[in-house]
Amino acid sequence: MLTISICLALLAVPLAPVTFNKDVAPLIFGHCAPCHHSGGVGPFPLMSYADARKHASQIVAATQRRYMPPWPPEHGYGDFADDRSLTEKQIRLIADWVTHGKKEGAAADLPQPPRFNSEWQMGPPDLVLQMPKPFRMPAGGSDIFRNFVIPTGLEQTRFVRGLELRLSNTRVVHHANVVLDRTQSLRRRDGQDGQPGFPGMDVITEAAANNFDPDSHFLFWKPGSVLRPEPDDMSWRLDPGTDLILNLHLQPTGKEESVQAEVGLYFTSHPPTRFPMLIQLEHDGVIRIPPGDRTFTVTDSLTLPVDVDLLAIYPHAHYLGRLVEAWAVLPDGSRRWLIRIPDWDINWQAVYNYRHPIALPKGATVRMRITYDNSAANPRNPNHPPKLVTAGNRSEDEMGHVWLQVLPEKNATAGEDPRLPLEEAVMRRRLQKYPADFLAHYNLAALMEMRGKLDEASAGYRDALEVDPKSATARNSLAGVLMLQDRLPDAIQQLREALRIDPGYLNAHYNLARALAATGDLDEAGRQYAIFVDAKPGDAAAQAGLGTILFHQRKFSEALAHFHEAARLDPKDADVQANLGAILAITGDLPAAAQAFERALRIDPNHAAARANLAKVRQALAVKN
Ligand code: HEC
Repeated sequence: MLTISICLALLAVPLAPVTFNKDVAPLIFGHCAPCHHSGGVGPFPLMSYADARKHASQIVAATQRRYMPPWPPEHGYGDFADDRSLTEKQIRLIADWVTHGKKEGAAADLPQPPRFNSEWQMGPPDLVLQMPKPFRMPAGGSDIFRNFVIPTGLEQTRFVRGLELRLSNTRVVHHANVVLDRTQSLRRRDGQDGQPGFPGMDVITEAAANNFDPDSHFLFWKPGSVLRPEPDDMSWRLDPGTDLILNLHLQPTGKEESVQAEVGLYFTSHPPTRFPMLIQLEHDGVIRIPPGDRTFTVTDSLTLPVDVDLLAIYPHAHYLGRLVEAWAVLPDGSRRWLIRIPDWDINWQAVYNYRHPIALPKGATVRMRITYDNSAANPRNPNHPPKLVTAGNRSEDEMGHVWLQVLPEKNATAGEDPRLPLEEAVMRRRLQKYPADFLAHYNLAALMEMRGKLDEASAGYRDALEVDPKSATARNSLAGVLMLQDRLPDAIQQLREALRIDPGYLNAHYNLARALAATGDLDEAGRQYAIFVDAKPGDAAAQAGLGTILFHQRKFSEALAHFHEAARLDPKDADVQANLGAILAITGDLPAAAQAFERALRIDPNHAAARANLAKVRQALAVKN
């Protein structure tokens, strides 16, 4: 018996001695050095044998407690790419190295230490944008959440496959988010307190009306995060006039600091052909956490109307959040965990990409539950003593969001963009939570309009107007639907009301011009077009619209000028060329008319009017000669 137990004990000892160079360095370089290098976020470098030896017992303690490397998701509740946690075996190996004398090992065994420099990880970007001015930080005080408006200056739409940040000062930046502001709605808040940017933990931008272009990618960055470009077919579009809003979480260091960021953008010539969508589970409207409450929970759910592939998940709460859970209930009633974070820490928030996309079928319900601890026992509670906490974007307020990045599968219904039914489900869910939510009513109506359900669209815009009768945007959109339904007097009334609310609202002038033209009120239609064209002379459709009115008013030379302008602005519009030809013919310039008709036919060989008119003009020219 005795011999056997000795044998077992011997077996437990590794056959070859554990050495740093052979066994530990690969772990330290791969799992620790990305943060623990000079200039990194870790408090000391772990880039060499000497570094590791110096902190050896600390390393053992931190890894055994699973405090390091930071990896908050619980194992077994989602399989994530870039999971940087250590396995039990790896943790034991590090401990063994220390108990067995912290041997260095043979030089030949040492892997190449990773290199960290201030160069761009993904290579030189195609466009580098910079925060206009550095932001100065005080030496002390609490964390700072600051948003910086960065215009792109783009003159044409680009497709982005990657985004990287480079910071003048890595020690102070905890994490960063980039949000797209398509309507430049945040520029006016920039710099109001004398410093660049504006405060706030979470940014809310105005959606661009009438343009279904949902957010599709998490643009989240943390020091030490692994960057990878999107696959070319999943790039995202960046239009001229869209601002980047850089949301930085900054931590004072004890001395005054300043920070400036550069955003590197990587373009591709491929427009996306797969369109992911970000879906938010949340119920901030119910967040009222009484002081002392340790089990306050917020839940939300969404039943998926289409099959999706879940690509990534991003939970977000502030300091009172303790337990974050998300799962899917599949149509057969079974539960599939998406993530579980048992000890939420905002400091380690991250976007988690699944190693393999999770297929969630139509009819599956995704659910989230976040539990908060507003007692003095929560070491992260920012309020001493605890006080009533409600939803908001200051760090002493709370939030509870679980964002999902999903790739909807093309569904059976005749080639429809599967994001539309998904967005519809999101908006309907939002109206269940917030029946008086203007944007949800408005967006739902816009979706119905896009899907050709005009009665539901006009009802939806009217619901939005019940909530906010002063919305010129909703009146203008309602009028657009009424025009499609040929209800011109109703449309004109809505547009006049929109212009009474907002006299400078150009789109309403434009729609009013079209509606009036359709009723035959040419004089008033011409006046409305003229207001629009004066303000936006570069709009080809408006130039052509005004030209058409002038033509019907037999003001041929003025009409000609506007059609020439329309043709110059949009040389690819066959109708404009055909109309230009018609006016040229009427005013007697037959050779120029023939050329315009020929251009129309080159653009659209099936343009019947251009073909017929060209024949007539050629005939007339033949007679003349
Ligand atoms: C994502 C960045 C990151 C990674 C990866 C990381 N660390 Fe850290 N580490 C930090 C930061 C930041 C701190 C200081 C803040 C803190 O202690 O929470 C820290 C602190 C430590 C400490 C001091 C903890 C204490 O007890 O005070 C040790 C030891 C440590 N890290 C070891 C490691 C080891 C070993 C690894 C790899 C197995 C590792 N870290 C991976 C960021 C990181």
